Amino acid sequence: MTALIITESYFGNTAAIADAIAQALGGPGAMAVESLPVADAPVLVPPGTDLLILAAPTHDYSLPRPATRARARQRGARHGGQEGDGPGLRDWIATAEPVPGVKVVTVDTAVKTGFMLSSAAKTAARLMGAAGFENVRRGATFFVSDLSGPLEPEELLRARAWATTLAAGLKSLTKVRAA
Ligand SMILES: Cc1cc2nc3c(=O)[nH]c(=O)nc-3n(C[C@H](O)[C@H](O)[C@H](O)COP(=O)(O)O)c2cc1C
Repeated sequence: MTALIITESYFGNTAAIADAIAQALGGPGAMAVESLPVADAPVLVPPGTDLLILAAPTHDYSLPRPATRARARQRGARHGGQEGDGPGLRDWIATAEPVPGVKVVTVDTAVKTGFMLSSAAKTAARLMGAAGFENVRRGATFFVSDLSGPLEPEELLRARAWATTLAAGLKSLTKVRAA
């Protein structure tokens, strides 16, 4: 099985979560995983991709926009490839072409406030569905302790466990389909 992870990140926290997910998915005997910042992501999902994970920070309860990117820069955003004005996942999704059979799962990072009107992962899942992807689901939110991080304790472990569970679910689904 093959997985592609596409990530948007301004302070490195979502990128760290994506790395942890990639490590867990790509463990021994597991999937072939490619993990790319959105600026380097292919315009088209490569043929043969079974799992597409989109990871982004929550900005104003949604996916980042040019105005929120500018606010991130004012707050010292420094993560590689994202200092400029995009592209973000919102831009990538806007030109994405649906691929039959690919399972899409969206994840995000956010500050733990106890109240989340919406989130980057929720928006990304909605936009991917609107773009025509058929098998889309919102995955987990991972928490940072403040706007620029760091991640809350144990979030990298939680991301690895989350990805391991996701991979196990995909494998059993494949087995059922093959039977
Ligand atoms: C402009 C801006 C708006 C934000 N809005 C929200 C928000 O609505 N809810 C929230 O929980 N966190 C919000 N945050 C915090 C981000 O979620 C946090 O910066 C992000 O998780 C860090 O991930 P990154 O290091 O990958 O950029 C916001 C941050 C910025 C810069």
